[in-house]
Amino acid sequence: MDRLTGKVAVVFGGARGIGLATVKEFLAEGATVFSSDIREPAEELDAAGYTHTTVDATDETQVDAFVREVVARAGRVDVLFANVGVHLGKSLVDTTLAEFDDIFALNVRTAFLATRAVLPHMLERKAGSIVITSSNGGVMGRPGDPVYNATKHALVGMMKSLAVAHSAKGIRVNTINPGAIDTDMLRGTLNSPEEFETKQHQLVASTPAARVGEAWEVAKTVVFLASDEARFINGIVVPIDGAKSAGAMPGNRYSLDFELGVR
Ligand SMILES: NC(=O)c1ccc[n+]([C@@H]2O[C@H](COP(=O)([O-])OP(=O)(O)OC[C@H]3O[C@@H](n4cnc5c(N)ncnc54)[C@H](O)[C@@H]3O)[C@@H](O)[C@H]2O)c1
Repeated sequence: MDRLTGKVAVVFGGARGIGLATVKEFLAEGATVFSSDIREPAEELDAAGYTHTTVDATDETQVDAFVREVVARAGRVDVLFANVGVHLGKSLVDTTLAEFDDIFALNVRTAFLATRAVLPHMLERKAGSIVITSSNGGVMGRPGDPVYNATKHALVGMMKSLAVAHSAKGIRVNTINPGAIDTDMLRGTLNSPEEFETKQHQLVASTPAARVGEAWEVAKTVVFLASDEARFINGIVVPIDGAKSAGAMPGNRYSLDFELGVR
């Protein structure tokens, strides 16, 4: 429970879902956590070493001011978790230019601004771990959300380039690439609880593990990447997706499951 003891972690998108679960794991592992989000946290965390700040991560001025404040108070940043993102489940031809610009701002500009604000401090100290939330849509094509997937591929490209550029200076940069994880975002892509129950079968059908994941399962991986245990892991994508990105499921998943006695 002390894999991050003494480390200062900055989190963007820490109020819900994967971000909030990661804040909790960071705290449990002994980190000092400066969380931020455009919203207040869904849960009040009464933990030593935890602060939450309201920050619109698309806004250059707010991001820079937040990171300046962290450095002024803590003296450094050891870990950056750039996790802000929203989904857009639309075909390319149905996507408006405004929607295209918005999703690139929320998914790519946020990681760019967070990294640009933190990286100089890490370079100065020749140490730091940056974890960026991509998606399995960042490593594979999916039919329903091409523009979302473009943003998540962009993050992988930025991550790899940063890892190559700064590895010799002690900076590690990796992406996590979750599959379907049960969060507000996943449920928000659907219109009703009933639809979630129905659509969940489709998500399960396309996931070899035959279930959706939990936010804490993602958070455990972020802790590992942030920690010194991952000190020689740099420039990689880390799928956390029950084998979804490992290969296509057969179209007859359900009949196959019945044959195998899974259901
Ligand atoms: N849930 C999934 O199935 C899944 C799968 C793959 C990737 N992801 C990625 O994981 C990340 C977290 O998603 P989640 O599932 O936990 O969703 P979520 O909606 O629960 O969390 C997203 C967080 O980002 C915050 N946010 C949104 N706009 C912001 C802004 N302008 N400034 C600051 N914060 C802002 C939200 O308030 C929220 O707390 C996203 O990048 C998402 O693309 C999620």
